[in-house]
Amino acid sequence: MPSSFLFFLHMVPLFSLLFSSMIYNSNAHGPPSPGYYPSSKVSTVSFDQGFRNLWGPQHQKLDQQSLTIWLDTTSGSGFKSLHDYRSGYFGAAVKLQPGYTAGVITSFYLSNNQDYPGNHDEIDIEFLGTTPDKPYVLQTNVYIRGSGDGKIIGREIKFHLWFDPTKDFHNYAILWKSSEIIFLVDDVPIRRYPRKSDATFPSRPMYLYGSIWDASSWATDNGRYKANYTYQPFIGKYKNFKVQGCSIESTSSCRPPSGSPSGHGSGLSPKQFAAMQWVHNNYLVYNYCHDPKRDHTFTPEC
Ligand SMILES: *[C@@H]1O[C@H](CO)[C@@H](O)[C@H](O)[C@H]1NC(C)=O
Repeated sequence: MPSSFLFFLHMVPLFSLLFSSMIYNSNAHGPPSPGYYPSSKVSTVSFDQGFRNLWGPQHQKLDQQSLTIWLDTTSGSGFKSLHDYRSGYFGAAVKLQPGYTAGVITSFYLSNNQDYPGNHDEIDIEFLGTTPDKPYVLQTNVYIRGSGDGKIIGREIKFHLWFDPTKDFHNYAILWKSSEIIFLVDDVPIRRYPRKSDATFPSRPMYLYGSIWDASSWATDNGRYKANYTYQPFIGKYKNFKVQGCSIESTSSCRPPSGSPSGHGSGLSPKQFAAMQWVHNNYLVYNYCHDPKRDHTFTPEC
C-alpha cells in the first residue's frame, strides 16, 4: 500500500473528529429543517377517545388532556390503546422527570405481546433514565415474531437528544407502514427501518402502549445504576396524542399518513435524510448493526 494512502488512513479519524465537532458547534441549536412535518397532518385524540389504563390505575391522572403516570415503590403505571392497528402514525408529546432517574423507563410503544405471548412483535420508543450528570438516552427498538422473547434479538439504536427532554414537551412518533418504520422526534426522522424481508419486519396488528416502570436490571449503563426510591415519585407526562392508523376493521384502502412529501412515496426526502444524518452524526449513542459483540447472522438486515 502506498505510504501516502496509509498516511491518509491515519488522518481520517482526526479529520472526521474535527469535522464532526465543527458540525456540532455550527448546529448546536438543532438539526436542519426536515422540511416536512407529519405530526401536522394528524389530528389529536383525547386520552379517553384513544386509550384506557392498563395497570397501576392509582398512579395515573388525567388533567386537561395531560396525562401523568408515575412510579414509586408500590407501582408504576401503563396505558393501552382501545384499538389495535396494522399500520399508522402514533405520536405523543412527552415530558420526562429531571434529576436522578436511573433504572426508570418511560415508554411509548407498539406491541402485540398480549396476543402472542412468547412470540410477539414490538416497535419501541423508550427513554432510559439516567444519573443527573448524564443525558437521557432515547432507545428505539424493533422486535419481530418473538425475537424479544427469550431470544432477545433486539434491534436497538440509541440516541441522545439535541434538547433537554425534561424541560419541555417534545413530540415523539412512530410511523409504521407496510414498507418501513420511521421514528421521529419533533418531526425529525431519527431512524428508518425499511422492510428488507418478511422475516425482519413486524406485520401483525399491534396495540399502542405507554408506561413508566422499574427496569433497574438493564436500563442505565447495563444495570450499573439502579432506581433509587429516595427520588420517588418518577413522573412521566404525556399529551397531544396523535393516532391515525388502520385497524383490522378498516377497509383495505386504508393507508397510514405519509411520512414524507409527495413524490417520495416510500422513503424520505433529501431534506429529511439530511436531518436524520445530522442526528446520526451528532447524537447517535449505539447502533446494534455496528456492535462487534453481536452475532449478525440473526440480524441479516444489517
Ligand atoms: C439513594 O440516594 C440517596 C440520596 O442521594 C443516597 O443517600 C443513597 O445511598 C442512595 N441509595 C442507593 C441504594 O444508592
